[in-house]
Amino acid sequence: EKDPVIVLVTGAAGQIGYALAPMIARGVMLGPDQPVILHMLDIEPSKEALEGVKMELIDAAFPLLKGVVATTDVVEACTGADIAVMVGGFRRKEGMERKNVMSKNVSIYKAQASALEEHAAANCKVLVVANPANTNALVLKEFAPSIPEKNITCLTRLDHNRALGQISEKLGVQVNDVKNVIIWGNHSSTQYPDVSHATVTTNSGEMSVSKLISNDQWLKTQFITTVQQRGAAIIKVRKLSSALSAASAACDHIRDWVLGTPQGTWTSMGVCSDGSYGIPAGLIYSFPVTCAKGEWSIVPGLKIDEFSRTKMDATANELMEEKSLAYSCLEE
Ligand code: NAI
Repeated sequence: EKDPVIVLVTGAAGQIGYALAPMIARGVMLGPDQPVILHMLDIEPSKEALEGVKMELIDAAFPLLKGVVATTDVVEACTGADIAVMVGGFRRKEGMERKNVMSKNVSIYKAQASALEEHAAANCKVLVVANPANTNALVLKEFAPSIPEKNITCLTRLDHNRALGQISEKLGVQVNDVKNVIIWGNHSSTQYPDVSHATVTTNSGEMSVSKLISNDQWLKTQFITTVQQRGAAIIKVRKLSSALSAASAACDHIRDWVLGTPQGTWTSMGVCSDGSYGIPAGLIYSFPVTCAKGEWSIVPGLKIDEFSRTKMDATANELMEEKSLAYSCLEE
């Protein structure tokens, strides 16, 4: 049997945490032959609820689950973590200013960056889920300089999966037959869901999505806004934000990162820009990536038309603004 992998989940008493912990314990994230030890962190007000999640995980008798730590101590939670899924954060409350929310998250991610840097496994892979996901990841990267830049990512896989879902619904094909959509930029309503390079597997081979959906207007308007605003649409009907789809996407993100993307297929991940596609280096920006041997690489050389260029730059600009807002919070 393999040695267990330690997976840290912060904000584990929250609603994504409740969906995510059993997925990890069942092997959805790291595979059916990989034992895991869960480290769950939350804050004092959620301490009892967190203990409850631990009790249920024990009651579920997951064969792969070799241990559960439920704690409010960030050092204990981070110690030895091989994978860190950062779901905990401060949520915007009604009437609160963007700057106040940013300021709370900047201090959380600054502190947790240091804890990870000092106590996590040397090659710990970090996935930030909590919003503002890209900028929380940026803060984490800046304050954990000894963690390799390549190990710090944020979640845009949910948006990627939503784009696959919309195309499959529109064409009446299996979601599994749709591939190579791209989410560019910020995990926010300025993200750019791009199908210029997406294809569908049909009986007559691979066909491009833009050929199959002859209604260019739908692809350029409704499709994009549906994906961009899907989170708000879920809140409207569920009265709660996306949780099962977010948890599932987090598992997809880590699984592909660790075990590799299938041949000929890419996914979307928020990663540190190296200047590819003219995106300012150092920003955490969602790109199309392939993964092999536990490392992601940005898919090179895709043709970018003018429509895409404008949208990719708009979301990059928003990230630059978030970055300066985050820095102004740090100075206070
Ligand atoms: P939630 O409010 O149910 O859970 C958040 C948990 O984090 C709470 O239990 C809270 O006590 C905990 N927490 C707060 N500060 C913490 C700290 N300093 N350390 C550890 N834990 C802390 O929220 P939910 O629905 O689980 O969502 C979590 C986050 O994920 C939110 O920021 C949400 O906006 C974001 N999100 C991101 C998505 C993405 O695609 N990137 C998709 C859906 C949600």
